[in-house]
Amino acid sequence: MKKFPVSISPTEIRQQLNQTDSYSRRFAETCLRGLLGFRDVPGTLSNRENVFPPVPWEFEKLRQRIHDKISPHIYGWYDEAASAAGGSTSSNVAAFSRYRFVPRYLHPDKTFRYATPVTLSSRELGVTRLASPTPIFASPYGSASLYGGLSDEISLAQGVTDADVVHSLGTLTRYSLEADRQAVVTNRYYFRPGLRAPSGPAPFTMFQLYLTEEDDINRSLIERAKRAGVSVILFTIDAGAGHGGAPMMDLAADFTYCSGIAGNLLHDPVFHEKCYRRRGCVGTRSPKLLTYASRRLGLSVKKLADACDPAAAFDYGRTIQFGGMGRQNSVRNSRSPAYPWSVEHIARLAHSRKNISPAHPAFTHRRGLPLAVKGVMSVEDARHCQDSGADAVYVSNHGGRFVFNSIAPIEVLPEIRKAVKKKDRNFGVWLDSGIRSAADVLIAYARGAEFVGIGRPVIYACVDKGRGGVRQILQGLLYTIRDQARLCGLQSATEIHAKTDIVRPA
Ligand SMILES: Cc1cc2nc3c(=O)[nH]c(=O)nc-3n(C[C@H](O)[C@H](O)[C@H](O)COP(=O)(O)O)c2cc1C
Repeated sequence: MKKFPVSISPTEIRQQLNQTDSYSRRFAETCLRGLLGFRDVPGTLSNRENVFPPVPWEFEKLRQRIHDKISPHIYGWYDEAASAAGGSTSSNVAAFSRYRFVPRYLHPDKTFRYATPVTLSSRELGVTRLASPTPIFASPYGSASLYGGLSDEISLAQGVTDADVVHSLGTLTRYSLEADRQAVVTNRYYFRPGLRAPSGPAPFTMFQLYLTEEDDINRSLIERAKRAGVSVILFTIDAGAGHGGAPMMDLAADFTYCSGIAGNLLHDPVFHEKCYRRRGCVGTRSPKLLTYASRRLGLSVKKLADACDPAAAFDYGRTIQFGGMGRQNSVRNSRSPAYPWSVEHIARLAHSRKNISPAHPAFTHRRGLPLAVKGVMSVEDARHCQDSGADAVYVSNHGGRFVFNSIAPIEVLPEIRKAVKKKDRNFGVWLDSGIRSAADVLIAYARGAEFVGIGRPVIYACVDKGRGGVRQILQGLLYTIRDQARLCGLQSATEIHAKTDIVRPA
């Protein structure tokens, strides 16, 4: 077939790449690479991720690409139909089509600020003000190294940071939260000369917490997140251990959950002590990780290392993890046996400036972290979180993965916002679920969200093209957010909170 003739002069390439901001540069790079047949473009950073063909911007095309590559046993975890019987995922997405923009072309100021202030607040911690480089964050994805294709936790963390997007470290991971956080901090792109000073502030990162059945392991996880330098704890309350029920059986979804979900437990000193007490084994031979158990149990590190049985330890880890995930509650009485899994208890642990776990005696931080509760879908739960000391609610139905025929988060957002803002205007209100485009992000802001999480598009891009795919999908989204916002006369995403007439019901 005859190729369309394209000739680009070196001067034109230089001009295209000489854009003032990273998203425009990236956009030009991607287009030029497309025209040049995905060879590296002269004058740009040369590395493997840069020469990946772009991932499709259109979500359905992206979904199709990964669907054809992944085993149904794995895709069964996140399949939009199987993991969301009753159409919860598709109704999350469809809900955004009920809103329309009113363009404002004659606005004289054509600038756009990506930087977005993020405010959280509680009685205990006061107001926390954070600055995100962009108005979006990557929603937390557990098991990211198990999804198939090129998906891998470290690539995910790096691709997200490449795009200047706030990353959420998960609990259910292959590596430890310390290693995943390190991938964010030492990211090559992030410290690329000219883009960001290496001496700049450490990137704003979040840690998503799933509780286990053991309070002292939960404490240890929170203490480790503080030491690793994360800025916010996301406490997920909407996941039972069941993962969506019967429809996933049709796909024989793989529930063996190999050790790719237990990295945080297997790197936790308290876990090995508990594991030895309950199962007579440990899950590591590392003296560093066994010293605490050795002291507590009065056994030598060598004796413990000899009792290393990774399969049995993983089995114990899986049991306490899935046993703990459905225990979250609203108890306020600290003597209740259910209290260790209450929002109030977790808020206190997150806020504490003191050491909350004896397994980490060397005191290296004086940080209390704000707590955002993820999975809030009702005014009642939102009020409860606020009264229990949380700093933000993160409205989400887990991408429609758990409750059949769930109402869409974008629909309940305004009433939740109204209820919590009445008490405290700095209390945070965030959202994810169903965001597939730049327009969806702006609609979420227009409905009252103050920070917006991107879910499946990022995971799918990672499966398709690894780190480069994650970077491309997010940069495409950010580029388009700016484009669309400017067509509506906005200079930032948050400005839409004040201009309520820009987005209207269709
Ligand atoms: C494959 C997959 C894994 C996920 N893992 C987690 C997790 O470990 N913890 C969590 O809080 N949310 C998890 N979520 C939910 C996301 O954080 C987010 O709420 C959801 O993907 C948003 O919906 P959307 O992808 O349809 O936009 C996961 C979602 C998917 C699709």
